[in-house]
Amino acid sequence: MTAQNAAGPFGDKVVFVTGAARGQGRAHAIRFAEAGADVIAVDLCDQIDSVAYPMATPEDLDETVRLVDKTGRRIVAEQGDVRDRERLAEVVARGVEEFGRLDFVLANAGILPAAGRQGRDITAYTDAIGVMLNGVYFTIEAALPALLANPDGGAIVITSSAAGFKSVSTDFESMSHGAAGYTAAKHGVVGLMRHFATSLASKNIRVNSVHPGGVATPMVLNEAMAGFVAEHPSFGESQRPLLTIPMMEPDEVSETMLYLCGPAGRHITGVALPVDAGLMLK
Ligand SMILES: NC(=O)c1ccc[n+]([C@@H]2O[C@H](COP(=O)([O-])OP(=O)(O)OC[C@H]3O[C@@H](n4cnc5c(N)ncnc54)[C@H](O)[C@@H]3O)[C@@H](O)[C@H]2O)c1
Repeated sequence: MTAQNAAGPFGDKVVFVTGAARGQGRAHAIRFAEAGADVIAVDLCDQIDSVAYPMATPEDLDETVRLVDKTGRRIVAEQGDVRDRERLAEVVARGVEEFGRLDFVLANAGILPAAGRQGRDITAYTDAIGVMLNGVYFTIEAALPALLANPDGGAIVITSSAAGFKSVSTDFESMSHGAAGYTAAKHGVVGLMRHFATSLASKNIRVNSVHPGGVATPMVLNEAMAGFVAEHPSFGESQRPLLTIPMMEPDEVSETMLYLCGPAGRHITGVALPVDAGLMLK
C-alpha cells in the first residue's frame, strides 16, 4: 500500500513492534502509523503451553495489518518468535529492505504464565524468561545494525510492567514458577534498558522502559486470570491502583510510547517510567 500521510510527526519514520498481533502491540502499531510511521510487526501467533489463556492467532496479526493499512501507512508483518534471534533479524531485514530505515524499536511481546495449573510447571519460569528477558535482548540485538545505520539515531522502548518494581506474587499461596519468571524478567529488562541506554547514548539512541499497571488486553481479561484472582484476593488487591479511573486501554500506553520516541522525549534516556495510576505508591 502506498504511503499517504507521510506528513504526520513521524512521517518517514519506521517502527519495529514485537507482539503486534493484538493488545498493546497492535495499538502501538496503529498509533505510530497514524503519526506517519511505517511499521515492521512480528508476533508468535501461536500458543505456548505454560500460558493458561488463548494467545494471539495469525488472524489477529492480519487484523493489525488491516488496521495499519487503513491509516494509509505501510506494514511488513511476519510470524516469528522473539526467542529466535535469527528469525527477528530476518523480519527486521525484510522491513528495512521495504522501508529503507529503522528509527524506533518497541520490545513489547510478552506472556503472563502465572495463572492456572500450567503456572506451577517449571517451564512457566523458563518460558517467561525466554520471552520477556532473552526475547527483549534478541529484539534489540536484531534491530541494532539498522538503528546504528540511521544517521538520526533512534529510540528503543521496552515494555516492562509494575512487576518490574514489585513481585507479582503476593503471598505463599499465589507463589508459582510463572509469577517468579514474570517478576524476574520484568525486573531484568530494567538492567537491559540501563545497559543499552549507557552503551548507545553516544550513537544518539535513547532507551527507556515503560511499566504499565493493569491494561485491558486478553493477557489479563481472561477466564484463567479471573479464576486466579477469585482464588487469590490478595493478588487482585495488589493490582488495584490509587487513581479511581477505568482500567487503562492499550492505546493509552501507546501515547507514552509516542512521547518517549518523539521529539518531546529527546532528552529522556535511561528512565524506567511507571504508567500505573499510582499503583507504585501503594
Ligand atoms: N495487560 C497488562 O495488564 C499488562 C501490564 C503490564 C505489562 N504488560 C506487558 O505488556 C506487553 C503486551 O502485553 P498485552 O497486555 O498487550 O498482552 P497480549 O497477550 O494481548 O499481547 C501480547 C502479544 O505478544 C505476543 N507474543 C507472546 N510471546 C511471543 C513470542 N515468543 N514471540 C513473539 N510474540 C509473542 C502474543 O502472541 C500477543 O500477541 C507484555 O510484555 C506484557 O507483559 C501487560
